Amino acid sequence: MAKKDLLSIYDLSNKEIKDLLKKAFELKSKKKHLDIFRGKSLGIMFEKPSTRTMVSFAVAMAQLGGTPIFLTAEKMQCSRGESIYDTSKVLSKYLNGLMIRAFKHEDILEFSKHCSIPVINGLTDYEHPCQILADIMTVMELFNTKNVEALKKIKIVYIGDSNNIANSLIAISAILGLDLTVISPSEYQVKNEILKQALQYAPKTKAEIKVTSDVNAAENADVIYTDVWTSMGFESEKVKRKKMFIPYQVNSELLKKASSKCIVLHCLPALRGEEVTSDIMEKHENSIFTQAENRLYVQKAVLLHFIK
Ligand code: CP
Ligand code: NVA
Repeated sequence: MAKKDLLSIYDLSNKEIKDLLKKAFELKSKKKHLDIFRGKSLGIMFEKPSTRTMVSFAVAMAQLGGTPIFLTAEKMQCSRGESIYDTSKVLSKYLNGLMIRAFKHEDILEFSKHCSIPVINGLTDYEHPCQILADIMTVMELFNTKNVEALKKIKIVYIGDSNNIANSLIAISAILGLDLTVISPSEYQVKNEILKQALQYAPKTKAEIKVTSDVNAAENADVIYTDVWTSMGFESEKVKRKKMFIPYQVNSELLKKASSKCIVLHCLPALRGEEVTSDIMEKHENSIFTQAENRLYVQKAVLLHFIK
C-alpha cells in the first residue's frame, strides 16, 4: 500500500520510484505549469540552512498552482518548547503537506506519526530521499536512458562521508538493483544496520552494494559522487574529519582510475579544495548543475504523488 509520507527511500517501492522518475522526466520535457494544487498549501520547514531544497520545493508548489509557506523552526513556537505533537496537530489543520528539514531523523518520524497530512523528508541526519531521486534522474539523463534497468550496467561510486546522502543512495541502489560502491575512511564507514537493510533486497533485485575504505575501488567508475566531509550538525568534528578525509578527495588523480567518460556528481553545497577540487567542479559542472536543476522536477513529481 502506498505510504502517506516520504521519510526514507524505503517508503517507495521499485515501481513507485520508476513512476516518480517517469513523471519527473515528463514534467521536465513539457515545462508546463499546472493548476492542480490551487487553494492548497505546502509548509516547508527548516531547522537548518538550505538553498536548493527550499527554493525547488517552493517553486515546485507554486508552479503546480499551490502556495508554499516558509516555516523557520527557530521562529516557531517549537523553539520555545512547543511539542511536536501539538505542532503536528495544528499544522495539519492548515496545510495539505509538510516538508521538513530536521536535525534528527527521529523528529521527522514523530511529525509523521502525528500529522494527518503527508510529511516529506527534506533532509535529516539519516536520509535525503528527494535529493537521491534527482540524482538517479540525472544519471539516467546523462547516460541518455529513460529506462531504470539500463542503470544496472553503470558502476556508481560514492566517495566520502557515509552520511545521509550515502544512506539514501544505498537504499535506492538496493531497491533498483544498482551497482554501488561506497568508499569511506574506516572510521566513517556505512553503519552495519544500513548495509544490512540494503542487502536484504539484493537477492531479489541483484543489487551489488560494496563498502570499502580502498580508493582503488573507484576503478572503472562510470559515476563518481561525493558530498561534504562534515554535514550540518557535525561541525564539532570538522577539524578531525578534514584530516581523515584527505585521501578521499575527488581530484584529477582519482578520476584517472575511473572510466574516461565518468561523470561527477555532487549534491551541493560543495567546499572546493576539500571533498572536491575546483578543476573537477569546473570540468563537471554540467552534471552537477543538472543534478540541482532536476531537484525541481523531482519535487513536483513527489508532491503530485503524495498530496491528495
Ligand atoms: N542538496 C541540497 O539539499 O542542497 P540545500 O542544502 O541547499 O537544500
Ligand atoms: N550531507 C550534507 C548534505 C547537504 C545537502 C549535509 O547533511 O549537510
